[in-house]
Amino acid sequence: MKSSLYRNLQRKIIAVTLAVSLAPLVILGLTIYSGFAQMARDKIEEQIRYRAMAQAEAVDLFLKERTAILCAMADTHTLCDMKDERKLSRILEVMNARAGAFVDLGVISNSGQHLAYVGPYDLRGLNYYQQAWFGEVMTTGLYISDVYMGYRQLPHFIIAVRRQEGSNTWILRATVDPDIFGGIVRSAQIGKTGDAFIVNREGIFQTRPRFGGDILSKWHFNPREFGRKTTVIEGLNGRGKKTLYAGCWLRNGKWLLVTTQEAAEEMSGLFGARNTEIALVACGILAIILTTIFTARMTVNHLRETDVRMNELNAQLVQSDKMAALGKMAAGVAHEINNPLAVILQKTGWMEDLLEESEFRDSENCQEFRESLHKIEEHVERARKVVHNMLGFARKMEPHMEDVDVNATLRQTISLLENYARNNNIEIITNLSQDLPIIASDQSRLQQVFLNLLNNAIDAIDKNGTIEVKSQSGNGLIHVDIKDNGRGIPKEEQKKVFDPFFTTKETGKGTGLGLWVSYDIVSKMGGSLGFVSQPGKGTTFTVALPVVAPEKK
Ligand SMILES: Nc1ncnc2c1ncn2[C@@H]1O[C@H](COP(=O)(O)OP(=O)(O)O)[C@@H](O)[C@H]1O
Ligand SMILES: [Mg+2]
Repeated sequence: MKSSLYRNLQRKIIAVTLAVSLAPLVILGLTIYSGFAQMARDKIEEQIRYRAMAQAEAVDLFLKERTAILCAMADTHTLCDMKDERKLSRILEVMNARAGAFVDLGVISNSGQHLAYVGPYDLRGLNYYQQAWFGEVMTTGLYISDVYMGYRQLPHFIIAVRRQEGSNTWILRATVDPDIFGGIVRSAQIGKTGDAFIVNREGIFQTRPRFGGDILSKWHFNPREFGRKTTVIEGLNGRGKKTLYAGCWLRNGKWLLVTTQEAAEEMSGLFGARNTEIALVACGILAIILTTIFTARMTVNHLRETDVRMNELNAQLVQSDKMAALGKMAAGVAHEINNPLAVILQKTGWMEDLLEESEFRDSENCQEFRESLHKIEEHVERARKVVHNMLGFARKMEPHMEDVDVNATLRQTISLLENYARNNNIEIITNLSQDLPIIASDQSRLQQVFLNLLNNAIDAIDKNGTIEVKSQSGNGLIHVDIKDNGRGIPKEEQKKVFDPFFTTKETGKGTGLGLWVSYDIVSKMGGSLGFVSQPGKGTTFTVALPVVAPEKK
């Protein structure tokens, strides 16, 4: 239950820390990214719009120049000159030298009859009266056609001007090379996906687009969606890719110049920046997560250790309180019992003396009396021993201080038990540190402690086993470990072993006072007595004594 508590705490710390630290990071990342994306998009839009405008201007200029030179030729020559094909050919040469891109030149009468023609096609003798453009020139005076196939069955467009000579009206008509015209438009096709082309009001391609369509085929967009000013529209291109379209109407109002760019290509720089940002943010998030988990673990572990230590301390406190209370009670009881015992013993002595007298000696039950008295004395003796131990415990110990060599005390105590141990096939191994300091302590009491512990170890082994006695010093303490491989102390008994009169031994063998007294002695010396035990495997009792330096004499 406790461990789930810590796990919960850890989870909460991690959750709160992550929420508090990650939220701003994520918000910041998103804000920067969206700002960035908007900026990039604005820039791209601006670029493509500028491209459309610049290109529209170039095309306007191209048409204006061609129109101007055609008008100039019509203005400076008479119909008579024009009808002379040698002169007409010379005029075409001059026009191409000054402006270029003219394929052919023709003169047409007001009845639509082709009067003269220079160029690569055989168009002489054709009549244009029925053609839409003819009517248009006759009424407006200047006309630039859409691209169409015409008699020559090739896409082209014409510029035509009408001239009045007296009552006579005639038309000078030139064809513009669609390749050169298309080339000018195409020069705005940039990058891998950038396109530039011209469509008319009906969305018919006037120049060949780079992708998805041919001259005179229909564009999948409606040109009327583009406003009068240069407009940028986002849509899907023929390949289903998100694309930006910028459209700018030419000055003639009939043609729309369109530049396009797939968003992905233009945004590739942005995507690079975005990936770097994502990587950076991810690294940051990872670092925060790891640090948070690490710190939370450390904090909770620290807390858990502190709790464990607190609990141990509390248990010790409870134990010593209990001992003090029991000590007081024991002293009272011991006193009360001690006196009756003395009286009993005195009376049995007197009865023994009486039995020696002749009137009893010859009695047939005399022997039985004697044995009974003996039994009484034996049991009183046992009771006295218990009381003696209790009194010894209860007595305010005025420690009798002397220089004590702990190792020597251990050796002496062991020598007392060696015989008994050997007879029961118990080996006592000593592993005593050579450099234990001499301390100021009470040797006989210390010996009593060691004797109690060794006796318990022997009892726990019963027969055949090993006891290891180890001493060492460090951190201002001397540690004595007495380790046996005996029966061990079952879990449910572990709390009780220091209680007075707690014994698992048969009556007569154990009083249950040994550990109680030892605990008290060691505590009063300022040390501690503890144990670890594995039931069935063995027990190690440890006496820790403070190193109290002996007074210099
Ligand atoms: N080394 C040990 N191994 C197993 N049990 C022990 C050991 N030391 C003490 N005990 C248990 O603690 C009880 C109390 O010991 P103690 O106070 O010395 O009293 P006693 O030895 O008179 O029984 C013992 O009866 C025994 O059950
Ligand atoms: Mg004992």
